[in-house]
Amino acid sequence: MLAVEKLSHSFSNGGEITPVLHHIDFSVDKGEMVALLGSSGSGKSTLLNLMAGLMKPTSGRILIGGIGIETMNENRLAEFRRSQIGFIFQSYELIPHLTVRENVELPLVFQGMKAKLRRDKAVSLLAKVGLGEKTEMFPSQLSGGQQQRVSIARSLVTEPAIVFADEPTGNLDTKTEKEIIDLLIELNRTLDITFVIVTHELEVAKRTRRVIQLRDGRLVEDAVWAGEDD
Ligand SMILES: Nc1ncnc2c1ncn2[C@@H]1O[C@H](COP(=O)(O)OP(=O)(O)O)[C@@H](O)[C@H]1O
Ligand SMILES: [Mg+2]
Repeated sequence: MLAVEKLSHSFSNGGEITPVLHHIDFSVDKGEMVALLGSSGSGKSTLLNLMAGLMKPTSGRILIGGIGIETMNENRLAEFRRSQIGFIFQSYELIPHLTVRENVELPLVFQGMKAKLRRDKAVSLLAKVGLGEKTEMFPSQLSGGQQQRVSIARSLVTEPAIVFADEPTGNLDTKTEKEIIDLLIELNRTLDITFVIVTHELEVAKRTRRVIQLRDGRLVEDAVWAGEDD
């Protein structure tokens, strides 16, 4: 599903070069749920943004479904991202003047899907994330946890091959954090969705079966944990 091969990345700003990732190698199978754990500044967001095709690596390869995304031109990559990749942000990134349902429909609007079909898909996913009663509300009328549920529904509406989440519970209290991780685990199991979840919290990482750990831009551990089996 996903393969990262000898991936390195440096940022260059006005002649100053900052190396951030060093020869990262790992792969993720379809239906896996992986936590990418590391302290602040270890390179997690950089790695996630590279894997999601939001920027190009300095060297190395990123294959999604066998296709090397690092060689794609901007148009092809934008289309690939729209159809194959879901993204969940720490800060939800919902559009305030659109309803919950319209926010979830938005990626389908960009795909040119007919209104009735996209509405049905959005409503059905919102029910799956526990927001069946909130579809016509606006984001500001929801709690943080509920807003993150909307953003989870939005990330899934295009039926992507893989979903990346960058600190999805970073703005939430402990109880809500647990509920959101429970939801991601349930979606992973019931819909067979592949998730890569970035976190700096061991408590979050422990809930997934597999944890890949970064330290100073290097992969220092890739382990399958027993996890909490329920
Ligand atoms: N655009 C950039 N230009 C220069 N350095 C950057 C840029 N983005 C991130 N960095 C640096 O790369 C390192 C890793 O950042 P990041 O991937 O955001 O880490 P994390 O998500 O693990 O906190 C940090 O030292 C950060 O300062
Ligand atoms: Mg980060």
